[in-house]
Amino acid sequence: MKNPFLLYGYKDPNLFCDRELEVSKLNNAINNGRNITLISLRRLGKTGLIKHLFHHLEQDKSAIETLYIDIMPTNNLGDMVKEISSVLILQEQKKSKRFLQNMSDLISGLKAKLLFNPISGSPELEFGYKSESESLNDLNTLFSYIGNLKKPYVIAIDEFQQINNYPEKQVEAWFRKFSQEYPDIRFIFSGSSKHILEAMFTNINRPFYQSSELLYLDRINTDNYTEFIHHHFTVNKKSIKIDDIKEWVKILDTYTFYVQYFFNKLFAQNKKNNTYKMMYEVSHEVLKERENIFINYKNLLTNNQFQLIKAIGKEEAVNKPNAHHFIKKHNLPAASSINTALNALLEKQMVYHENGQYKVYDHFFSMWLRSL
Ligand SMILES: Nc1ncnc2c1ncn2[C@@H]1O[C@H](COP(=O)(O)OP(=O)(O)OP(=O)(O)O)[C@@H](O)[C@H]1O
Ligand SMILES: [Mg+2]
Repeated sequence: MKNPFLLYGYKDPNLFCDRELEVSKLNNAINNGRNITLISLRRLGKTGLIKHLFHHLEQDKSAIETLYIDIMPTNNLGDMVKEISSVLILQEQKKSKRFLQNMSDLISGLKAKLLFNPISGSPELEFGYKSESESLNDLNTLFSYIGNLKKPYVIAIDEFQQINNYPEKQVEAWFRKFSQEYPDIRFIFSGSSKHILEAMFTNINRPFYQSSELLYLDRINTDNYTEFIHHHFTVNKKSIKIDDIKEWVKILDTYTFYVQYFFNKLFAQNKKNNTYKMMYEVSHEVLKERENIFINYKNLLTNNQFQLIKAIGKEEAVNKPNAHHFIKKHNLPAASSINTALNALLEKQMVYHENGQYKVYDHFFSMWLRSL
């Protein structure tokens, strides 16, 4: 029996919960020629959503081509060009029997060599060292190749904030140029660094200013998530109470990754009857198996930082960590020290700020802190 609660990647719509509104917003943007910047906290479901959308676009035979590129592992423009070209070439090869012929111009334009992996037989590109201007030329070659196919293309660039770390500073300006030059190509820029992405797209001095619609991905609706979980237990002939699911979804803050992980573990117990007590035991087990990580977190923090994150975890969400009653209740140091510790925790992405509240980023860590 396959576990229906995926922890990585995307399989099919059946294992994907909701996101109907977001899919329709993305479709609307694509069909009306707008670029989209998709922003959310980590592990809330950006990549899943893009893959889900692409699955539909591919199924619908909508004649819209898709290209998904994750630039997380890239450190410079040259790496990005390699990533885009390999994804494009692998994808074209699957679609077209005339692949080599179609690709030869592109590859010679990129001044790369096409090699075939002797074991897998799949094509790979070999690039020599390239200067910044050569890499920009390559990027130009790639987009003009795609643009000249005269087919609508949606290119998703995941972890887009990564370009901020590239030594080359022209990348944003070039993306803007491509996006204006090739109306058949629409972009989805996706990432979790809210500040970096917002600055790129809303700062009047930046090339991307107002060139993309911002879509903030929020949590899945709790009732829809509860029903989704109930459905998957039920079709697999496992009984579970809907109210129990809902309560645990809430305890998990309806945070996609943590909900998936928790119910993946519960499902894996392979019991006919899934009681509240079993859920409690699973939560205990999950926190226990991660205890070393949590202790490691603790060792990486100063005493003030740890006392503060512990207090935030215990409260689950805090509006004003430097308020007198909060400091007193948790026996914390003076407000000025709290401000310093809070900034450090935000900087380290141990804590996040959302809708006026501070929360611990790793939700299992938050649950563990509550148990201290
Ligand atoms: N709507 C959904 N229904 C069911 N599972 C989902 C859904 N969205 C995402 N997931 C699952 O939740 C986990 C996290 O999702 P995903 O990797 O898409 O998040 P992300 O926002 O891209 O994270 P990161 O910021 O780390 O890249 C994955 O295991 C994914 O399979
Ligand atoms: Mg992702």
